[in-house]
Amino acid sequence: MAHASLLASPPCTALAQDALAGLTAGGQKTLPCKYFYDEVGTLLFEVICALPEYGLSDADQRLIEAHAAEVAAACNPGTAVVELGSGSARKTRPLLEALAARQATLYLPIEISPAAIERSRRGLEGVAGLQFRPLAAEYLDGLAQVAARRRAGRLGAERLLVLFLGSTLGNFAPAEAADFLRSVRRHLRRGDHLLLGLDLAKPARQLRLAYDDPAGVTAAFNLNLLARLNRELGTDFDLRQWRHQVKCDRRGRWVQMHLRSRRTQTVRLPGAPRPVSFRRGETIWTESSHKVHRRDIAPLLAGAGFRLRRQWTDEQWPFAETLAQAV
Ligand code: AVJ
Repeated sequence: MAHASLLASPPCTALAQDALAGLTAGGQKTLPCKYFYDEVGTLLFEVICALPEYGLSDADQRLIEAHAAEVAAACNPGTAVVELGSGSARKTRPLLEALAARQATLYLPIEISPAAIERSRRGLEGVAGLQFRPLAAEYLDGLAQVAARRRAGRLGAERLLVLFLGSTLGNFAPAEAADFLRSVRRHLRRGDHLLLGLDLAKPARQLRLAYDDPAGVTAAFNLNLLARLNRELGTDFDLRQWRHQVKCDRRGRWVQMHLRSRRTQTVRLPGAPRPVSFRRGETIWTESSHKVHRRDIAPLLAGAGFRLRRQWTDEQWPFAETLAQAV
């Protein structure tokens, strides 16, 4: 175990800093959703994607499969694929196959979960003509590295296709999402492509079930965040004293996940001056997933310096795949 003197010293990892900031600032307590994806969380998310109630991921995959050839045809030969948050890359595979069938293709997944990088590496073995070069980084840091390599002529590709699938953009509040797309655009050159998968607004009932599935997989995914803090930071969250809670907009525009304290309790947080106290019923806000209307996607892209080229929606689950080009 760590020394008392070590526990008293300031936390040094990003996780420790973010947990300290999110749990000790007054008002609504928060934890960033990017920390869901440790090894256990990455596996639980894979299970969520297999749930019938969470139709998002299947819809994304159907659209990519149906239109991979068209996306590949829109890209110049010699286009490298950069994916923001590739996960297992199961959805990406048909697109990579379509591109690599034409000529050798460089694939650069940017992914903070080492477990996900390993899964995608194994999953893409056997795609002929694919060169796998992962970057273990945050999205914009990774993208900046790719852009710098291209500028220096060391990338081995002139053009980029950036994939941002699975509606991960929805984890940003609308204003931040617009900012994020502008930052992505700054790392690109005119003519580069962006393929953006976004979950569309849908009935609140359907949305709630997708994030509060009756088998409790999403609850486990959410609670695992506290288990991860216990494992990696030495906090002492008692998971049995917390409940998964979903808050849902009546118009189906957003859903939030929270962890709700079942009783008044305190938790030890290394690096904090004193234990963190929680009131009964108080929540830690762990994730937002914003949903969009199809008509709002083109203006969102235009505001960030992209022109919409093609857009497809799924028949079974309201979801849009949009191919855009940097202007
Ligand atoms: C992977 C971020 C798109 O917000 O829908 C799934 C994560 N959270 N179930 C989403 C998630 C709860 C997912 N994203």
